[in-house]
Amino acid sequence: CEYQDARPLRQRLLVVANRLPVSAVRRGEDSWSLEISAGGLVTALLGVKEFEARWIGWAGVNVPDEIGQKALTRALAEKRCIPVFLDEEIVHQYYNGYCNNILWPLFHYLGLPQEDRLATTRSFQSQFAAYKKANQMFADVVNKHYEEGDVVWCHDYHLMFLPKCLKEYNSNMKVGWFLHTPFPSSEIHRTLPSRSELLRSVLAADLVGFHTYDYARHFVSACTRILGLEGTPEGVEDQGRLTRVAAFPIGIDSDRFIRALEVPQVQDHIKELKERFSGRKVMLGVDRLDMIKGIPQKILAFEKFLEENSHWRDKVVLLQIAVPTRTDVPEYQKLTSQVHEIVGRINGRFGTLTAVPIHHLDRSLDFHALCALYAVTDVALVTSLRDGMNLVSYEFVACQDSKKGVLILSEFAGAAQSLGAGAILVNPWNITEVADSIRQALTMSCEEREKRHRHNFAHVKTHTAQEWAETFVSELNDTVIEAQLRTRQ
Ligand code: ADP
Ligand code: G6P
Repeated sequence: CEYQDARPLRQRLLVVANRLPVSAVRRGEDSWSLEISAGGLVTALLGVKEFEARWIGWAGVNVPDEIGQKALTRALAEKRCIPVFLDEEIVHQYYNGYCNNILWPLFHYLGLPQEDRLATTRSFQSQFAAYKKANQMFADVVNKHYEEGDVVWCHDYHLMFLPKCLKEYNSNMKVGWFLHTPFPSSEIHRTLPSRSELLRSVLAADLVGFHTYDYARHFVSACTRILGLEGTPEGVEDQGRLTRVAAFPIGIDSDRFIRALEVPQVQDHIKELKERFSGRKVMLGVDRLDMIKGIPQKILAFEKFLEENSHWRDKVVLLQIAVPTRTDVPEYQKLTSQVHEIVGRINGRFGTLTAVPIHHLDRSLDFHALCALYAVTDVALVTSLRDGMNLVSYEFVACQDSKKGVLILSEFAGAAQSLGAGAILVNPWNITEVADSIRQALTMSCEEREKRHRHNFAHVKTHTAQEWAETFVSELNDTVIEAQLRTRQ
């Protein structure tokens, strides 16, 4: 975890997110090991170095006893992390329930699974109560560690209630909130029973940020249509108080990926992979095993491609690396079985005694292994049904400066707005279109690949995680100063 390497700058930053950059695994009564957490939020924030930052969040584990809590707090302090301890019941209702079974699918336009619809509607009130309680627990920890002048930066759909709780503690606290998922059309948001309360609590922040202009626009129109407030080019106004709303597209620490390709261990790994897959084009998918990533659709499109292009069957391989995520939520368990079933069927259908068309791994790869894989890939497949941004597409581009492989990218990922000119954009629901784009990618001329790659590489190199954070924090500082000036006038 590189978060500990943060160099001090002018200002202290309290990053508050449900997930800490490290997840804890208990090794004994008072001993813990820490592993890097998966997901774009963690990846992006670990790429932000130039702040004197502390990270407040949940370590992904239930720690009921005081000895364990003290030991974990000490271990995390070395990483500049401060834990929020959530008990099992809260995790069940707040994290598995309200966050991952209600808000997550809703914000990604996926709705509730049919068989869960009624049950979820019934448990809605208790889950929302747990959500508010959890947010208050985060606020208590922030308040305890807050020093005057700190910037408090709240992240994601888990903590929509947090800005309000923080401002109740201290109305002078500088509070920003950033959403890492899409914010859906107001027509979707208005189906939430807690629609108004959530919007009002987010509006308590001084600055509210989204990955794209569209998500920001949806948020402003939800506030105007549902709350009857005034939307302005600057944000949302409520009785003379302005909450600034804007788009801040996230990026990665691209130099870290580019530098990694020079590491001898990575170069050895690249050589091994090239030998292992020699004579075949390598296609790659790297995702959390999440329903928004469109993994079954991607694999079915690959099957269609193999069906229609028999001469490619022994010349291409799809590596799908899918790290398990939110495994206590039934919908995710069903997805895992579904993916395994489809992969097994296709490998049975097109495999030979010596090779299979799909290598599917349910696991996380370490950073160097991931960089090596990105570097040897000919075609990356990002087929999210919806995605806030999607940083895997950025990481692939960062590692492709010598190979200049092709990115097939869902038009429903935020990244389509930044990498759209260099990628082949697809509708992931249209399996025929994705299968055609696989053929197009595999047969694309060098000149065309070079041209597309150049466009995307320039973007990924300049729009970094550091620049994203600096822009957000400086905008937050300016917003607070402007508000103070307005009040004095
Ligand atoms: P999300 O935040 O929804 O997971 P992103 O594409 O924005 O989607 O970010 C995913 C992050 O998690 C990336 O940094 C990616 O490298 C990492 N990741 C995803 N799957 C794996 C995996 N199987 N092994 C290692 N890292 C992974
Ligand atoms: C997405 C969310 C993050 C979350 C990550 C991993 O990137 O926007 O907030 O941390 O997925 O999910 P998890 O539930 O394991 O934290």
